[in-house]
Amino acid sequence: MSKVFITSATGNISAQAVKNLIAKGIPTTIYVRDEQKARKQFEEEFKSNNLSVVVGDYDNEEAFKKGIQGHERLFLLVADLIRMAEIKDKFARIALDAGVKQIVDLSSFTVKQFNSSGIISQAHTDGENALRQAVKEKGGNLVVIRPGNFMTNALMSDVHTIKGMNKVFGVQPATSKLTLIDPRDIGDVASTILSDPIEKHLNLVYDVNVQTVTLKERADILSKVLGRQIDYVQVPPVQHYQTLIQHKLPHALAYEFCKFNFHFDDPNPEIEILTGRKPRTFEEWVQENRSALE
Ligand SMILES: NC(=O)c1ccc[n+]([C@@H]2O[C@H](COP(=O)([O-])OP(=O)(O)OC[C@H]3O[C@@H](n4cnc5c(N)ncnc54)[C@H](OP(=O)(O)O)[C@@H]3O)[C@@H](O)[C@H]2O)c1
Repeated sequence: MSKVFITSATGNISAQAVKNLIAKGIPTTIYVRDEQKARKQFEEEFKSNNLSVVVGDYDNEEAFKKGIQGHERLFLLVADLIRMAEIKDKFARIALDAGVKQIVDLSSFTVKQFNSSGIISQAHTDGENALRQAVKEKGGNLVVIRPGNFMTNALMSDVHTIKGMNKVFGVQPATSKLTLIDPRDIGDVASTILSDPIEKHLNLVYDVNVQTVTLKERADILSKVLGRQIDYVQVPPVQHYQTLIQHKLPHALAYEFCKFNFHFDDPNPEIEILTGRKPRTFEEWVQENRSALE
């Protein structure tokens, strides 16, 4: 059975993939920077004796080089927008030299939607391109997962205004659509690909957008589950930019969030095709995270 190596293993997506792989009895190695945190987070999974840990970060080439030996599959998720392509290129080349046959890349819907016009789509586009080039030169397969907006973003961006003002702010009209996905569904897709035969997924790109809602509908779902009125409020881009900067968001991200112009496709069928079940909905996600939003 081919061994799987998971980067950024303590994050939402990777952790879900790790739990699934261990549940399937697949030998898995997690690459983490804090071993204690990982041992606590994967306490159950460590009992299986199928889970190994390698300690290192994106800069620790030697730890990665040593750890990746003996693995055939690599899940590459890099949570660093500035250095994404550089890190993915470095880790992919080391992995392919060590005998890895399949790399599964965590990319972003912005590659298709925004055509390198902002920091997020630039990072993920350059990351994908670096990986394609590495696989072209060294052999192996590259599968790319491009998820839409994470439902968990509500806990980063909107939680304070939901709790303090019963409002969600943005620059788009309330009728603008966005697609949402639960990061656990992305982890489910990743673990399915990593445990299927490599020949099945070849060099495919999977767009995983599961639920399309307008900004008003998103606020309505929050209202329904939280049991109080939450309104979506459109604000001028300059005002939104200034608010984000006041909250210490770096310029490049604040600028991108002021320019985000949603043109989303209908929801894609990937979750159901790959996992055989319906995706998790935003309403379910808000139910589960209700206490954090109250
Ligand atoms: N938010 C969205 O709507 C959206 C949409 C599409 C794509 N994406 C992409 O999704 C990815 C984030 O996934 P996620 O939400 O699962 O991540 P997450 O939950 O935020 O977790 C980030 C992970 O990266 C690890 N990490 C951060 N810096 C590191 C470093 N220097 N060295 C080693 N590990 C490091 C963290 O480790 P610790 O636990 O030690 O901190 C953690 O395991 C990003 O690439 C993002 O661009 C996001």
